[in-house]
Amino acid sequence: MSVREEFDRWASEGRDRGMEERHWHTAKHVLERMPVEAGDTVLDLGCGSGYAARALREIKGAGRAYGVDASPEMVRNARSYTDDRAVGFLQGDFERLPFETDSVDHAFSMKAA
Ligand SMILES: C[S@@+](CC[C@H](N)C(=O)[O-])C[C@H]1O[C@@H](n2cnc3c(N)ncnc32)[C@H](O)[C@@H]1O
Repeated sequence: MSVREEFDRWASEGRDRGMEERHWHTAKHVLERMPVEAGDTVLDLGCGSGYAARALREIKGAGRAYGVDASPEMVRNARSYTDDRAVGFLQGDFERLPFETDSVDHAFSMKAA
């Protein structure tokens, strides 16, 4: 089963929120320590439910936050959890990121490979 298929299933079963709950205890310490300045552009690789992109906007004042995930269903769920227009979720692979060189200030990734 591909990463996309596996995590599409997780997302369609609502298990993305459970992952968020389990990972938040660790991730919050990393996110708090990231040297993000107001207005910076941040990226979460393998975003799952998208909690890190949302948190970097809320906690650190990032100007723009993106999450990329191989699973279209994860991306769909992540989009449904926020109406912040400065947070965007894209389906894609780490090997071919849809960003210009030097267009992202900070990147985060939690349990995604
Ligand atoms: C274990 S989940 C972790 C999700 C989230 N980072 C968290 O902390 O809850 C791993 C996620 O990374 C994504 N992923 C794994 N390999 C990827 C790749 N090569 N490109 C894009 N997304 C990938 C999966 O689709 C999945 O949603």
